[in-house]
Amino acid sequence: MSNNVVILAGGQGKRMKVRSPKVLCRVLGEPMLEWVISACEDAELNDICVVKGFEGAQIDAYLESRDSKADIVTVLQEEQLGTGHAVMMAKDFLEKHADGNTLILCGDAPFIDRATIEGALALHESRGCGVTVVTSRAEDPTGYGRIVRNDEGIAGIVEHRDCTPAQLAITEINSGCYWFRTADLLEVLFDLQPNNAQQEYYLTDCVELIINKGRTADAYISENHNVSLGANDRRGLLMLNDIARMDIIEKWLDAGIEFTCIDGVIIGKDVTIGEGSRIDKGTELRGKTVIGQGCLIGSNCIIENTKIGDNVVLNNVQAYESVIEDGVKIGPYVQLRPGSHIKKGAKIGDFVEIKKSTIGEGTAVAHLTYIGDSDVGANVNFGCGVVTVNYDGDRKFRTVIEDNAFIGCNTNLVAPVKIGKGAYTAAGSTITKDVPPSALAIERGTATIKEGYAEKKLKNRTAKFENSRKDDQGH
Ligand code: UD1
Ligand code: CA
Repeated sequence: MSNNVVILAGGQGKRMKVRSPKVLCRVLGEPMLEWVISACEDAELNDICVVKGFEGAQIDAYLESRDSKADIVTVLQEEQLGTGHAVMMAKDFLEKHADGNTLILCGDAPFIDRATIEGALALHESRGCGVTVVTSRAEDPTGYGRIVRNDEGIAGIVEHRDCTPAQLAITEINSGCYWFRTADLLEVLFDLQPNNAQQEYYLTDCVELIINKGRTADAYISENHNVSLGANDRRGLLMLNDIARMDIIEKWLDAGIEFTCIDGVIIGKDVTIGEGSRIDKGTELRGKTVIGQGCLIGSNCIIENTKIGDNVVLNNVQAYESVIEDGVKIGPYVQLRPGSHIKKGAKIGDFVEIKKSTIGEGTAVAHLTYIGDSDVGANVNFGCGVVTVNYDGDRKFRTVIEDNAFIGCNTNLVAPVKIGKGAYTAAGSTITKDVPPSALAIERGTATIKEGYAEKKLKNRTAKFENSRKDDQGH
């Protein structure tokens, strides 16, 4: 028996005022659909069917770009005729998995989690239900489907617009997440009728249809108060961002991470932070970033998919797809573009950009320097204003700098070029040839000194000035 998932993602974000599927709107930088899929993957549910509709190609493109653990297929719902109609589109998928249970999720409710999925399944199986609805209690249930309970479990779900005044007062709401016994779902799904205020095929009506077949229906009240929350407009989406942001910060506070001020601090759900680290204001930690122990990150850092070791200090740094080893100090105002690897104890100072390069242990790049496509050894010293000239307008070339080299201020290193072990380049040189180990390379014009030249110039200038002053006075 295998359990499987159908995720409803057909709707348009009309009220978001965006020409893309609503489920691709982002919470903490990740599409809502991503939150939902990764909750399934956490719960080891790896057979997933996504129902796409409006601008479905964007969903395909997103799924292709993603590193999926799960086996994800998609089906198209050409017209959005309701949540029940969306599930009908997954008929073939459901028939293939008809011996198990199907989890149905809304792609626009990102806070579903593994504990809820598993808790609901446990109830579903222990009670032998045809359907188990995940619910939550809401202070303001406006807009959600209401859960009508009876002695056996539940009697049905009534949409807000179809509620009687008494039903409107019910505060237990439908999260839009359900476990169905797949065979039971298939048995009633095509009996749905659009007899309601919106003239849509409501998936929620399956509950009553399953009960009418003599099967049990129950509701699982999630401990996660946010499980039902979805976003219909930008205001709602901002609210989801705020909730997710604070939940994650609170999780890290509980883990002992120090925050001095959380203004502008945004930490992605998949980020990890080691003990004794501190995060300062304006810092965004994105994607699969890993931060070691005893680090000081901030203020104003953006760190994306970057692995950071222990005791690292970053101040006003942006780092993307990079590796920063133990004891490194970087900043302020530094950008590490993808493919940078900064080894132990290196120091990167202000106004430095590094791209697709390795910086060796203990190397110092103190100020105003660009290092691109380079392999830099250990204990190298860069003077101020060094540039690796890696691009000829057509192709890119690598620069190699071996251990203990000393690169003078304002050196241009025209790649491909190699600076040997312990070699020096003189300040202001434009190096176009390889420099052997321990050598000094100077590539600059010889200075010519003209004694007394400036004095003569000054005399001429003074005379000119005197004449024009006399002219102005009408002499
Ligand atoms: C639905 C539930 C409601 C529940 C709420 C929780 C129904 C009838 N109502 O209402 O009881 O409280 O979710 O959020 O199911 N979708 C499609 N195709 C369609 C229609 C919707 O794929 O034809 C997708 C949407 O993209 C969305 C999800 O299904 O991801 C839910 O649809 P939505 O229209 O937002 O349903 P609600 O009115 O919120
Ligand atoms: Ca919704």
